[in-house]
Amino acid sequence: MSLADGYGNTLTTRSAEARDHYESAVTLFLGANREGLAAFSHCVAADPQFALGHVGLARALMSAGRTSDAKDALKTAESLAFDVTSRERDHIAATGLVFSGQSAKARQAIRAHLSDHPRDVLLAQMCASVFGLIAFSGEAGHEASLLAFTESLLPHYGEDWWMMATHAVSLCETGQIAASEVLMARSLALNPRNANGAHFKSHALYERGETTAGRQYLTTWVQDYDDRGVLHGHLNWHLALWALHDGDEGAMWAILDGSVGPGASKGLPINILTDTVAILHRAEIAGYAVDPRRWTAASEYAAQYFPNPGQSFADLHAAIAHAMSGKGDRLARLAESSSGYAGDLLAPVSLAFGHIARGRWSDALDALVPVLPVAERFGGSRAQRDLVELAYVNVLMKLGLVEEARRTLKTRRPVLSDAPPVSGLT
Ligand SMILES: [Fe+2]
Repeated sequence: MSLADGYGNTLTTRSAEARDHYESAVTLFLGANREGLAAFSHCVAADPQFALGHVGLARALMSAGRTSDAKDALKTAESLAFDVTSRERDHIAATGLVFSGQSAKARQAIRAHLSDHPRDVLLAQMCASVFGLIAFSGEAGHEASLLAFTESLLPHYGEDWWMMATHAVSLCETGQIAASEVLMARSLALNPRNANGAHFKSHALYERGETTAGRQYLTTWVQDYDDRGVLHGHLNWHLALWALHDGDEGAMWAILDGSVGPGASKGLPINILTDTVAILHRAEIAGYAVDPRRWTAASEYAAQYFPNPGQSFADLHAAIAHAMSGKGDRLARLAESSSGYAGDLLAPVSLAFGHIARGRWSDALDALVPVLPVAERFGGSRAQRDLVELAYVNVLMKLGLVEEARRTLKTRRPVLSDAPPVSGLT
C-alpha cells in the first residue's frame, strides 16, 4: 500500500516513520516554525532514499539561511528522482528552478503543476503570500493575481489552516480586511502556533490602524516563538513599527536593536536589510533623530549580503541605505543596473533617495512621481511599501505642500491619514 502525505499526495517511501516525520515537518514548516528543520532531518534519516523528504529538508535549510546545505539537500533529492511519481518529479524540478533563481519559469511550472495537483502544498506555498513567486514577479497587478491564485486553490483545501491563512493575506492585501480577519481567526483557531497566521493577522490589524491592539496581540504571541524562527525578526519589525506609530521611540529602538537589525536578528538577510532600513527611514520621516552610524551599518550590510542587484525588493532598501549613508559609489551601481524583476525602477528610486539624502526635495519629487504608482512591482506587503508612500509624503512636506501631502495620504493610504507618522503632518 502506498503512503501519502497529510494532503493526500502519494509519497515514494515505504517507511511509515519517514512519512510521519514528513507530515509533521510540513505542518511545522508551513507554520514558519523552526522545528520543521529537525523534523525533515528525522524524515530523511528514517528513509534516506525518500526524495521529497530531501526537498523538504532543502526548503527548511533555505529558510534557516543555510543556502549551501540547502542546495546539497536538493541535489540529493534530484539524484533520487528516477523512481518517483510524476508529481514528485515535477515537484523536485520546480524547486530546482526556484533554487537556481529561475523565478519566472518556476512560477509558470508551479501554476501548471497545481492545476493537476492543487494540494501539492509546498509548491503552492512558494507562489503564495507577500514574499512568494507571484509577489516578487515584478508584475503590476500582482496583488490581484495573488488573490485569484489563492481563491482558485481554496475549494481544494477544505478546513485547512494553512490555506485559510494564505488566502486571508491575499484578501488583506487587496483591501478586504474584514473577510481576511474572519478567515484568519478560523485558521488560528485550528493552529494557534502558525507564525504566518500571527503575521498575517498583524497585517490586518495594521491595515485597520489598530496600533494598540496590534502591539498587545503580537507582543504576547511572539514570546513563545523561537528566535531562530524565520519570522521572528520580521514580527518584531511589526512591533517596532507600531511602537513608532505610538510615539514610543524607546521601544522602537529597543526592538530594532534587540530583534530586527544586523547582529540582532537570526533571520534571513532580506528581512534584516529591508526591515532595518524601513524603520530607520520611517523614524526619520516621523521626526526621530537617526544616528548616521545606523545608516552606515545598514549600507555595509546591504553591500555584504546583496552585492549584486537582482532581488528588487532588497535593492530598493539597499538604495535607501546607500543614499542615506552617503555611499555614492554603491548607489550609482544600483542606479546603473536594471537587473531584477523590477530592475527598471532601480534608477529612479536610486536617484530619488540620492536627492532625499541631500535635501534636494524638488528633484526628489520629480524622481519619485513615476515610481509611486508602480511601487507595487517591488513586491512585499502594503505595510512594507508604505516606506515609499511615506517618503513621497515627506518630500511634499519638505516642499511646504502640506495640503497635498495630507490629500495624498488620504487618497492612497487612508489608514495612515488619521494619525500620520510624518513629522509636521498632524
Ligand atoms: Fe509583515
